[in-house]
Amino acid sequence: MKNNELVLILDFGGQYNQLIARRVRECNVYSEVVPFDISLDKIKQKNPKGIIFTGGPASVYGEDAPKCEEAIFSLGIPVLGICYGMQLMTQILGGNVARPDKREYGTTDVQIDNTSLLFQGFDTKNGFLMSHTDYVEKLPEGFKNIGYTASCPNAAIENSEKQLYGIQFHPEVNNSVNGTLVIKNFLYNICHCSGDWTMSSFVEESIKTLKEKIGDKKVLCALSGGVDSSVAAVLVSKAVGKNLTCIFLDHGLLRKNEGDEVETIFKKQFDINLIRVNCQDRFLSKLAGVTDPERKRKIIGEEFIRVFEEEAKKIGTVDFLVQGTIYPDVIESGLGKSSVIKSHHNVGGLPDYVDFKEIVEPLRNLFKDEVRKTGLELGIPENLVFRQPFPGPGLAIRVIGDITEDKLSILKEADSIFREEIANAGLHKSINQYFAVLTNLKSVGVMGDERTYDYTIALRAVETTDFMTGVWSKIPYEILEKVSSRIVNEVNHVNRVVYDITSKPPATIEWE
Ligand code: XMP
Repeated sequence: MKNNELVLILDFGGQYNQLIARRVRECNVYSEVVPFDISLDKIKQKNPKGIIFTGGPASVYGEDAPKCEEAIFSLGIPVLGICYGMQLMTQILGGNVARPDKREYGTTDVQIDNTSLLFQGFDTKNGFLMSHTDYVEKLPEGFKNIGYTASCPNAAIENSEKQLYGIQFHPEVNNSVNGTLVIKNFLYNICHCSGDWTMSSFVEESIKTLKEKIGDKKVLCALSGGVDSSVAAVLVSKAVGKNLTCIFLDHGLLRKNEGDEVETIFKKQFDINLIRVNCQDRFLSKLAGVTDPERKRKIIGEEFIRVFEEEAKKIGTVDFLVQGTIYPDVIESGLGKSSVIKSHHNVGGLPDYVDFKEIVEPLRNLFKDEVRKTGLELGIPENLVFRQPFPGPGLAIRVIGDITEDKLSILKEADSIFREEIANAGLHKSINQYFAVLTNLKSVGVMGDERTYDYTIALRAVETTDFMTGVWSKIPYEILEKVSSRIVNEVNHVNRVVYDITSKPPATIEWE
């Protein structure tokens, strides 16, 4: 990464900070989110082409208001302050921030001076998202106004000589029409970036760095078949070939045919040293009779470690362990976590059960969409790259109540039909997660002239961006009808299909 141009994003606590970093990268410029109190030396060392101050919930008058050093503005590096970032810049440079009684919220018409380098290509009136209480009342010396709304006299300001810019609105969100162009203008017109951040340059650079770092030493990777570990494994294998060993545990709780698919892709397509451990029986016997979801998770987590440890021991000491950590994990681990509703969501700590010397995290700096692009760049098939999220405990938390081999196989069949029909209808990219659940409920039905007493399958499909909240997907009736009819006709021991029409909150996405 050291060869890429960099834009630093100083994090003042705003909710859209990650989004700003992503927008910058979408403009082909590498960006990093750093704490607002980063030292001047550190900034100089990183040598950024530009700095963006994010918004934040504080008021510059607040007792614990996050502040930065005044000297940042004299480094000769262009700065763009967004919302709180603009107010802070104003206050530090001798302007005035005022506190009206009312806040301005929502997409608002902003009149701008489109001769400013920041607004090239815009009309004079634009709908941007405003979300603030305080506003810039008096500009610091050397600044001029380049934008206003009906209730905010200084919605955009600049000191073009010092390359300092401030905007009260949020260009990073979708509610701001063409907002990314404001960011692009800052990057290209003001910071003079050339746009060298592409996934192919990332792949090339990473392979080179991994080669240098790992040399001919031994690397181990726990492959789950999920997007992150798959992309990480392929990237490392491109750098070190057979010195990488991947261990793939098939605990029998994967979806229909998934274990075989993973094996084929990694062994056949990428010629990776893959050890597939078939340990279905082991997991099933540990889970026998267990109904409590959290116990299931705990048992699976522990057993996973045990099996992995045993397999790793067979390989002996390795020098490196690959982890599929991605950038949002890195950013979030620096911030407070909200309360845990279900355990096992976050990877906890270093795996001290494997004998290794160092961790390699080749995706540490990538957002999820960049991980996917990297996967495509590496030739990983689309269906794996765009795979929907799948929980670590797998189907164990989709069989409600106790788990048996028969129940798992009913669920796998029903789930596979549901996924197939969603794909046939072309809905697989717009629905973010969809799956079948084997409820523990049996009910009476009639097939032919026979009374049946069989299981109810529930279908779950949600649309969400963050998986923290989500709405149930309005799948057309005809498709639901087809799925339902196929499931009751093709899957033995299912005589009823229901569709879950609860959003999150109050329900969660998984049933357990
Ligand atoms: P919930 O059910 O909490 O799920 O709304 C939110 C997202 O997290 C996934 N999920 C899990 N992932 N281990 C995981 O690795 C788990 O125990 C787990 N439980 C839920 C779920 O599939 C959804 O994407």
